[in-house]
Amino acid sequence: MTQPVIIGSERSEAGLPAGIEVLRRGGSALDAVEAAMRRCEDNLADHYVGTGGLPNARGQVELDASVMLGSDQRFGAVGAVRGYPNPISIARAVLERLPQHCLLVGEGAELFAAENGFERAELLTDEARRIWREQLQQTATAEGDAMGRSVEGENTGAVDGDRRYRESALALVRRLAPHEGPWGTINIIALDASGELCVGVSTSGYPFKYPGRVGDSAVPGAGNWCDLRAGGAACTGRGELSMRGGTARTIVDLLARGENPAEACRLALAQAATLPDDYRAELRALALTPDGRHGGAAGQQGSVYAVMTADSTRPELHPRVVL
Ligand code: GLY
Repeated sequence: MTQPVIIGSERSEAGLPAGIEVLRRGGSALDAVEAAMRRCEDNLADHYVGTGGLPNARGQVELDASVMLGSDQRFGAVGAVRGYPNPISIARAVLERLPQHCLLVGEGAELFAAENGFERAELLTDEARRIWREQLQQTATAEGDAMGRSVEGENTGAVDGDRRYRESALALVRRLAPHEGPWGTINIIALDASGELCVGVSTSGYPFKYPGRVGDSAVPGAGNWCDLRAGGAACTGRGELSMRGGTARTIVDLLARGENPAEACRLALAQAATLPDDYRAELRALALTPDGRHGGAAGQQGSVYAVMTADSTRPELHPRVVL
């Protein structure tokens, strides 16, 4: 019997206790990832995932999420979903109930969620709206634009000032790219007692992104990859880089060649860092092997990831190696 373990990126501590509880009871890695991630998505203090996530440039919260299983590499994902608080569960439903597809986005993903009985909810909290408005106003000031008035067009169709609003939103997207620290996408990877491995990723994405932007969290090989022959890996941070670098897949390929998890993450991040990118921001990665070894890498000192085993009373923080 395999010793169960669950690991997660920064702020996954809100969910890991629920995940390890599932594993302790003999539950599956998929159930553990979903249970843990739902807690994170429901954490209103977290502005990078689920309800309370930061919105796109037009003030609409759009969520991406995915799950992948190691044994058969089944993958389910949703991108740019509005109005549903737990995209991880919709991603799981794609994996289990729509096996002819892997990824649904936008309206189609919302239709699928409605047809499968998921409840709609308002995702933009007062706090997230306040942060978004502050950012718009700062951009307006910096751009010398009449943004303050245009902001009133939030969440509407064509209104007076809409053209100017859109121009300002674009200016905002252009200006915002170099984000301090990692975006708080959440990665969770679980290994269950039967030896199954599952990787889950969930995010509200690039803060104030262009509407419809889908990031690496929904894209297999970029933000999520899992192969029971070698391990599972996931990324947080600037998803455009991990999409271009195939970073999660690269990490698992490195594990297959015998690298340890931390070094596999470090080498894959180093590879992504060679890509030309005017909007560079940090990328981080995590990996877990089928025999329970784990590691992580980041671009900054002091970065950590969280781990729980069946004996843990609380998440234990481990340092990530630095690029
Ligand atoms: N890594 C999350 C994103 O780029 O959306």
